[in-house]
Amino acid sequence: MAPSTAGAITLTINGEKHTLPVDNRTTLLDALRERIGLTGTKKGCDQGQCGACTVLLEGRRVVSCLQLAVAAEGREVTTIEGVADGDRLHPVQQAFLDLDGYQCGYCTPGQICSAIAAIEEHAAGWPSAVTTDVRPEAGVPPLTAEEIRERMSGNLCRCGAYVSIVQAVARAAAETAQENDGADEMNVAGAA
Ligand code: FES
Ligand code: FES
Repeated sequence: MAPSTAGAITLTINGEKHTLPVDNRTTLLDALRERIGLTGTKKGCDQGQCGACTVLLEGRRVVSCLQLAVAAEGREVTTIEGVADGDRLHPVQQAFLDLDGYQCGYCTPGQICSAIAAIEEHAAGWPSAVTTDVRPEAGVPPLTAEEIRERMSGNLCRCGAYVSIVQAVARAAAETAQENDGADEMNVAGAA
């Protein structure tokens, strides 16, 4: 008798628990779109090359077409449907909207999820392939257009909206840094 490929998983998606039976070979992308109905995450190449399917898994960006749903069991998944704070768009969403960081919009959910994580990775001091000084004492590298292009290079845009995407990521990163500085100052003042 052939071994069963059926299983059941529980995922926390955008803060909500979902338990569902799945074939063990189901990708996270197909589970999100076909089983849970979260169609904001897009299928482009279905082979890990375009970034359209990017979601956040425990806050880290992953291409969900290369991730088995069973491997995400018990973990926290954030999709484009979950990045806003109620009616308030995430700063990255707002920047894409204000600066026209899209044309057809197909790659946009993946671009935005990827940008959210890229901004956090940069702020945490992670170097990229174009960071010239990677010594820990050099601190966080400036988030230049070249840095943004490299850090977002896994997300392709067939409409070629790259110029605006880079501007949107730069603006959102600057706003996030300002907000964090403000919060730090308040914490310091509160602790004094
Ligand atoms: S659909 Fe996943 S990387 Fe293209
Ligand atoms: S906006 Fe059309 S693919 Fe990027």
